[in-house]
Amino acid sequence: MIGEEKINEVRERADIVEVISSYVSLKRAGANYQGLCPFHAEKTPSFNVSPARQIFHCFGCGVGGNVFSFLMRLEGLSFGQAVKAVGARYGIEVEDKPFDSRAQERARRRELLLRVNELAAEFYQNILLQSPEGKRGLEYLQRRGYGMETARHFRLGFAPDRWDALAAYLQGKGYDPEIGRQLGLLRPGKNDGRDRDFFRNRLMFPVVDSSGAVVAFGGRALADETPKYLNSPESPVYHKGRTLYGLGQARSAMSRAGEVIIVEGYFDLLAVAGAGFENVVATCGTALTTEHAVLLQRHGKKVALLFDGDSAGWKATLRAMEILLGTDVATTVITLEDGADPDSFIQEHGAQAFAERFAQARPVLEVFMEKTLREAGLERESRARAAESVAAKISLLASPVKRELYLRELAERVGVSVQALATAGREMSLSPRMTVMTPRQTREDIPLKNQQWLLRLLVLDGNLRQRLEAEGAERYFADPDYLMTAEQILACGADDKALADLLEGAELSENQRRIVREALQGDVASLAEDRERIFQDCCQATETQRLKKRSRELTREIVEAEKNGDIAAVAALSQEKLKIDRQLKTRSAAIAEKKIM
Ligand code: UTP
Ligand code: MN
Repeated sequence: MIGEEKINEVRERADIVEVISSYVSLKRAGANYQGLCPFHAEKTPSFNVSPARQIFHCFGCGVGGNVFSFLMRLEGLSFGQAVKAVGARYGIEVEDKPFDSRAQERARRRELLLRVNELAAEFYQNILLQSPEGKRGLEYLQRRGYGMETARHFRLGFAPDRWDALAAYLQGKGYDPEIGRQLGLLRPGKNDGRDRDFFRNRLMFPVVDSSGAVVAFGGRALADETPKYLNSPESPVYHKGRTLYGLGQARSAMSRAGEVIIVEGYFDLLAVAGAGFENVVATCGTALTTEHAVLLQRHGKKVALLFDGDSAGWKATLRAMEILLGTDVATTVITLEDGADPDSFIQEHGAQAFAERFAQARPVLEVFMEKTLREAGLERESRARAAESVAAKISLLASPVKRELYLRELAERVGVSVQALATAGREMSLSPRMTVMTPRQTREDIPLKNQQWLLRLLVLDGNLRQRLEAEGAERYFADPDYLMTAEQILACGADDKALADLLEGAELSENQRRIVREALQGDVASLAEDRERIFQDCCQATETQRLKKRSRELTREIVEAEKNGDIAAVAALSQEKLKIDRQLKTRSAAIAEKKIM
């Protein structure tokens, strides 16, 4: 970890032209410098370096960033290493900041929690695979078609039907029961306050994060007890909205396939993986969140949704669609018959039949359009409503090209102009509060400020990152912490993997991580708006703030000039203030007009 002041110091001292010149021969071209891009093969220079903005950008391959991202990309350095390398060049010593004691305490605590979860997973697994008590679990698993191999691969286990099996085990190992309680593994009894096992007589599914650590458990009842599944509560190491079951095991298959299949249930995942599609993760009882989407973007550009063939499954599909349409991820849906889930389908029809279904996966928006129009029938009112709701979903698409293609298709199908549908879509997705102007006000339920909105858009949208990288983030972010964070995000360019590394890695400070978390809070509603419009609104709001600030400054400067008897200055300053105040007035009039509309 490097201190933020240090990073700033290095950034300020460094000259990007000088640094890049030692790798690329640069020639002056107007305000910028040009050369042959070191990141792709070219004969005519399209690689630009801007000394004023201290950034580089290649118009040939689209790569760009600041002095740090240049070295990261060219030399394969981490952010920290790049800062050190640039620092060394300018005689600035960059040392790793020692963890402060609170961060150290948190890290120690986390490690302890994970160790206890790991012990619990081993405990449950030993019972399942080796002890007579676990036989019932193994039999249940076998009845559902899985053997030891699956159990080992997914580290399945069995929680014995005793009230203090794990409690006694952990105590024997000398662990403070408080840790087990924090993880939700132990619960103090109502009467005697003694710790009891939370999971009893259940087949155990450890939830493993992408680094292989056990963060939570799901436990399946062997018979008809309720609840059918019991899940670990949220804890310092487990955040449902950020966790996908099976990610650890699916990782390499996901990168190979460039695609991930999302199912809802634990057994669905076992079935799909068993059918040869190991690139599968499960949401396990929660709806897909924006944070899940960020996690998924890292592993590929395609997602296939595979939910139950009933109305609940369709609802889950729609919610996931709303999240994913706004990302760069292409989303398809695999449909099953009513009443089937992926597990029952594969048990009944086999892997081959599933592979065929998978091959027939279709873009989710296309399926949604067909289904919605079909269900609406021919009646004019319901047809109009259906068309509007499809148009609203189309407006969520990140790509303008895709938006247009879908709108055309919809227009043809319902016999309405593309224009009318585009307008309807935008209005629908903004309703019922389309009357207000700034993003902060359009969504009272998500009180994100402008800078938070912008940051969120930057995390989700590679194109926007490239655009802002070229323009410079300082125009948009007034708060230095936000600016810092935004710049590190921009340095990733359009590369979602680099971004995910940044967000998950240790480069961001605790404070920066909090900023990102807050910007990503809430899910569906935030994407249910036209991102271009949000972006424009944010820019406008930032500009208004800038103008107001300048107007206040001018008032002070005019007073000062009057005091000094500098008539010429008073006149010039007053004129500037008049101009700015007029601009501000036009702005607030425009806002008021939109409110009435
Ligand atoms: P389902 O009710 O569809 O169960 O819940 P399932 O996956 O088909 O379960 P099996 O095949 O009968 O074993 C889908 C998912 O929702 C979560 C679980 O993750 C489950 O896999 N769930 C369901 C719970 O967390 N708790 C419950 O009580 C039920
Ligand atoms: Mn099932």
